[in-house]
Parts: sequence; structure tokens; C-alpha cells
Amino acid sequence: MRIAVIAGDGIGKDVTAEAVKVLKSVGDAFGRRFDLEHLPWSADHYLKTGETLPANGYQMLREFDAIFVGALGDPRVPDNRHARDILLGTRFELDLYVNYRPVRLLDDRLSPLKNRGRKDINFVVFRENTEGVYVSIGGRFKAGTDDEIAIQEEINTYKGVHRIIKHAFEFANANRLTKVCMADKSNAMQQGHALWQRVFKEVSAAYPGITATHQYIDALAMFLVKDPGQYQVIVTNNLFGDIVTDIGGALQGGLGMAASGNIHPGKTSLFEPVHGSAPPLAGKNVANPIGAILSTALLLDTLGAREESKAIEAAVEASIASAQTTTDIGGTLGTTAAGDYVAAHIKAEGKRQKAES
Ligand code: NAD
Ligand code: IPM
Ligand code: MN
Repeated sequence: MRIAVIAGDGIGKDVTAEAVKVLKSVGDAFGRRFDLEHLPWSADHYLKTGETLPANGYQMLREFDAIFVGALGDPRVPDNRHARDILLGTRFELDLYVNYRPVRLLDDRLSPLKNRGRKDINFVVFRENTEGVYVSIGGRFKAGTDDEIAIQEEINTYKGVHRIIKHAFEFANANRLTKVCMADKSNAMQQGHALWQRVFKEVSAAYPGITATHQYIDALAMFLVKDPGQYQVIVTNNLFGDIVTDIGGALQGGLGMAASGNIHPGKTSLFEPVHGSAPPLAGKNVANPIGAILSTALLLDTLGAREESKAIEAAVEASIASAQTTTDIGGTLGTTAAGDYVAAHIKAEGKRQKAES
């Protein structure tokens, strides 16, 4: 498997080192070869060269089996230009329309909610990933004056809304789940979100075994905290999905725990932790690498390497069970040692399985 690795900025670099370590250990344990190609695209690279990514950058990325990203964002690039080109640009250019963000609490101890544990926090969010307000259609007129007008359009297309909602139902079906909840703001956004309403009704009608419900996004945000157990699959637009999956990070014990895939089924897809570059934590060996490590598990699962993916998840769960983790989730380890533990667990498990067979 050829995998492009973009560590990026801030703690992106710290957690990517651990994700790569874990990939290598799973490769050794399972006799699988991963060709990792490190691409330097980052704020540093942009500030040094003036280039966010090369002219053929997206084409380069398409030629890999998968892409791993740490995080992008740096206070020295206040307009976030490089992150827009590298991350959002790749989502758009590679048409990675499914933002798959599982929210699964791995240990009751990590729950931020009173009386809620593993059984209550286990759902997935499908975030539309190629449209909405993210397309950056609009402009500013009389910028910098008191007469400034700023327009930022939200784009919703039948094709875009249909394919993400359909994907959510197909996922539910394939995983024997019985509930899909769509969240929008159709009470206020009466044009674009009327389209979400229409398509949700249309698609859900084809899945009589699945209970299709709708919540306004504000109510959903509240219920995520009050009663997360009601959800199995949530589908929503680009912006709302961004926001609720940070809540999802907190529900898993912290933003450092959350993994994601930016997927176009059957094509080169991109995997990354949900969190950002957290500049205050960068380079201090404190960032939690689990979101990044679990993103490699999603990557492998998507490429069909199920056993390898499961081995990573099991090792992460073992690290949490024995509190061999970073301090944000109650351990005492640094980023590097937390990654070492997961990698060593995979190695030991690989040896044990070899001895058995
Ligand atoms: P952030 O996710 O970087 O951090 C918010 C807070 O969450 C941190 O201060 C920290 O307390 C906690 N946190 C996040 N990741 C953690 C980890 N691995 N371990 C422990 N704690 C962790 O969000 P922000 O501060 O709003 O954004 C910082 C920069 O990152 C910005 O430039 C933003 O645009 C960018 N960003 C990038 C991505 C991405 O590349 N996918 C995602 C989100 C934000
Ligand atoms: C995410 C991030 C990005 C987004 C930023 C960095 C543009 O917050 O992947 O969740 O909003 O999609
Ligand atoms: Mn986000």
C-alpha cells in the first residue's frame, strides 16, 4: 500500500509520528508492506517557498492508495490559505464527499457525562464534505470600510445532498443499524435545507427497515449532551457536521480521541484526526495521538485490511484500559510513550498469533 503522509503543522507533526510508528508495527506484525511517502506540505513549507502544494499536487495524491494528514493550521498564516488548499482543496478535488466521523466511547472512565458510558456513546456522523458554506463562493465589497458587504453562499445540490444521505442509509443497512437521524436548519434556512428535507424523505422511503428521524441542528447539539444513546447514524451538512463532531470528540473523552475519514468510496481517500494543530501544545510531547492512530485504523479498514485495523483498535483499547495514555485522558505518558505502548502491544499480539498458528 502506498500512503501519502502529510504531517502538517503543530501537533499534527507530533501525532503523525505516532500514527506512522503504529502503521509500521502493524505492517511488521502482519507481514504487510506500507510505502509511506512524506510530503512536506505545511505552514513551514508555505512560508519558505510560497507554495501551498505543487501545481500537480492533487494529481500526485490521487496516485496513492490513501492519504494520511496530521493537522493544518498555524498562526503565522492567519488567512489559513495553506490549510484551505491542502485539506479543503483535497476534499474538493478528490471529491471526498463522505466525512466519516465515528463517535465511540472506548472506556466508561472517559465519559464526560454523568451516568453515561460506552453503551450510550456509540454512533457515527456522516458529514457532507464537498459543499455547504465551505465552497467559498462569495466575496467582499468595500472591504475594510463601514459599508463592507460580505457574502458567503451555502451551496446545496441535489446530487451532493443525495449521495451523502444515501451513504448514511447504506452504512446503516450494511451494519444492521436501524436508526438514521438527519439534522438541518430548515426552519430558518428555507431554501437550501428544504432540499435536505426533500431528499431525506425520498431516500429514507427506500429503507423501510430503518427509522428515519429529523432534528434541527440546535436540538441535536443539545441531545448529544443530554441523551447521546438515541443516535446510531447522524447525517448532516458540512458546517454542522464540523461542529457536532467536536462535541463528538468531547463525548469520547476529548478531541484528541476522535478519528475521521474523508472518503470517496472506491477512490483514494484521506484519513486524519478530527482535531487541529493545537498550537499551544505543539512540540511539547503532550498531544494525545489516539485520534491519529485510530485514523490509521479507519484507513486500513477502508482499504480492506480488516485484521490490521482491528489490531490497532484493540491495542488502543488496551492502552486506555491500563491507563498507558497521555494526560488529557488521565494517563501520565507523553505523546511518544503513548504511541510506543500501542505499537508494542500490536507487536506482542502479532507474535502471540504467530506462535499460535
Ligand atoms: P484544535 O483542535 O487544534 O485544538 C482545540 C483544543 O483541543 C486544544 O487547545 C486542546 O485543548 C484540545 N486538543 C486538540 N487536539 C488534542 C490532542 N491531540 N491532544 C490533546 N488535546 C487536544 O482547535 P483550534 O485551537 O480551534 O485550532 C488550531 C488550528 O488548527 C487552527 O489553525 C485551525 O484552523 C486548525 N484546525 C485544523 C484541523 C485539521 O487539519 N483537520 C482541524 C481543526 C482545526
Ligand atoms: C475539520 C477542521 C476543518 C474543517 C478546518 C481546518 C477547515 O475543523 O476537519 O474538522 O472545518 O473542516
Ligand atoms: Mn473541525
